[in-house]
Amino acid sequence: MPITHFNFRKRYSKYMESKSHKEAPSIALVPKDDPTTLFTGSGMQQFVPYLLGESHPLGTRLYNIQRCIRAQDIDEVGDNRHDSFFEMLGNWSLGDYFKKEQLVWFWGFLTKELHLPEEKLYVTVFKGVDGIIPDDDSYNIWRTIGIPENRIFKYEGNWWSRAGAPSQMPTGEPGGPDSEVFYEFTSVAHDPKFGKVCHPNCDCGRFLEIGNSVFMQYKKLPDGSFELLPKQNVDFGGGLERLMMAMEDNPDMFETSLYRPIIQEIERITRQKYDGDNKHAMRIIADHLKASVFLIEDGVLPSNKEQGYVLRRLLRRLTVKLRKLLGQLPSANEVAQISKIVHEMYEGVYFKTGDDFSLVSRTIEEEIKRFSLSLEKGLKEIQKMETVSGKDAFNLYQSFGFPLEVTEELLREKGEAVDKKQFNDEFQKHKDASRSASIGKFKGGLADNSTKTLRYHTATHLLHQALYDILGSEIRQEGSNITGERLRFDFYSTQKPTPEQIAKVGEIVNTQIKASLPVEFKNLPKSEAEKLGAMSFFRDKYPDMVKVYFIGDYSKEFCGGPHVKNTNEIGLITIYKTEKIGSNLYRIYAK
Ligand code: ALA
Repeated sequence: MPITHFNFRKRYSKYMESKSHKEAPSIALVPKDDPTTLFTGSGMQQFVPYLLGESHPLGTRLYNIQRCIRAQDIDEVGDNRHDSFFEMLGNWSLGDYFKKEQLVWFWGFLTKELHLPEEKLYVTVFKGVDGIIPDDDSYNIWRTIGIPENRIFKYEGNWWSRAGAPSQMPTGEPGGPDSEVFYEFTSVAHDPKFGKVCHPNCDCGRFLEIGNSVFMQYKKLPDGSFELLPKQNVDFGGGLERLMMAMEDNPDMFETSLYRPIIQEIERITRQKYDGDNKHAMRIIADHLKASVFLIEDGVLPSNKEQGYVLRRLLRRLTVKLRKLLGQLPSANEVAQISKIVHEMYEGVYFKTGDDFSLVSRTIEEEIKRFSLSLEKGLKEIQKMETVSGKDAFNLYQSFGFPLEVTEELLREKGEAVDKKQFNDEFQKHKDASRSASIGKFKGGLADNSTKTLRYHTATHLLHQALYDILGSEIRQEGSNITGERLRFDFYSTQKPTPEQIAKVGEIVNTQIKASLPVEFKNLPKSEAEKLGAMSFFRDKYPDMVKVYFIGDYSKEFCGGPHVKNTNEIGLITIYKTEKIGSNLYRIYAK
């Protein structure tokens, strides 16, 4: 019997629980407390404070399956193995077990639980770079497990942090050497275009990375050197979709059971087959629609900024692809039918049977309608052009809302390429607020853990409570974004805050700062924390034990930290901007 993603999830949970791990529920796709990342892009996102030394309420051994979006991969979608939405199996040791247990357990999961053939598995370890020593420990552990030398590869690139290589990491960022496991698709012949000899890191598609054990040992210091973290941690991530590919021994992710039902629905609706050139379009439609459904479910709406703009790009690009397959613009109903399949596939995991799906359908429908109006007009403009320069592409974006990928898709039909650099330069010139999102600059989030950031983080809790006091209990946090320069706080409110109310909020925050309130946390059962009235982020599910930060008697909030020890460390703040960012959504900036 082929394994379904439902029982695959159960197997992973059972396996991790047999190794005394507790589940820390996956967080929303838009992280609540991260300064620079648009989306939750890996399982470790919620664990940054704990990897840096804070204690976790559930203990030192944790696991989950995290929904993720990597917006920087959108351009890659269309081949047999890239997706923008994916799920990551994760387990973490917060200063508990280390390399030996991790590698032995993961190997056991792959070979004994999933029964993947050992001879198709290859491993890689850190070769050393920039004066950081090679990871001989992992090499020796793999050898002890029984992996022959010819299936172990050493690379300089075997290092993981949210920012990438050691030299790319900002001050305060945790990172460390990693050890990856690859699955070999023996049915895929090596393509010499990618080099003479095939090896795990070759991009020809014969090898696929299915899991990565990161040994989070280091923190970057201001002088560029590294110090050992107070605890040696493990951050493991394994791609659910990729593990399904390995289990089904199919190098095309879109043919696995995780995508097949969606592709079949696209085939039915377009009356086209998933083969030849259609594959590229169908993969984009399937991936982008899946990502869109999850984003809307997590509270994102199409807009010209940040997460909303990524959603808009996904929806518009898939509309163009459907139009190509159908020979006309898709109807809202056709798109709704495909999204319904996405919903059904994840019922019982993320969605409940009988959930109200109307917001998702309505959002997609409205966006497609809005785009349809300008699509035909923009197309006429493109037809008139002999070539489309980067500047033209930018004008098409401004006048008709064509994201760059959409112009590229339409042009590909004409067989031309747009000058991306010129397009991006135009964006810079116009200083459009959405430029970073549109040109895919958002890589992993780089939470710097400077003292200033801690101060603003604590101030954000005070602000949250003060807004609650002044605007009433219906307000709820929609996100925050804290850097060393300022704090930003988004909230829902049906009443528009008046300037007087905002001034009052600012006064309250400063009164609490001046009151020198102690900042402390307690680990509490979730029910008790809720009874105390601690504020939580409604989009996240919390485990049974939670960490609650108390600021004197004034504020209590579910939070991982870290914070300053006393409000007198914050210094007075000024609210310098308040804006409306959506229907019943407001944003406050303070510094
Ligand atoms: N955080 C690691 C990754 O994303 C496991 O690959």
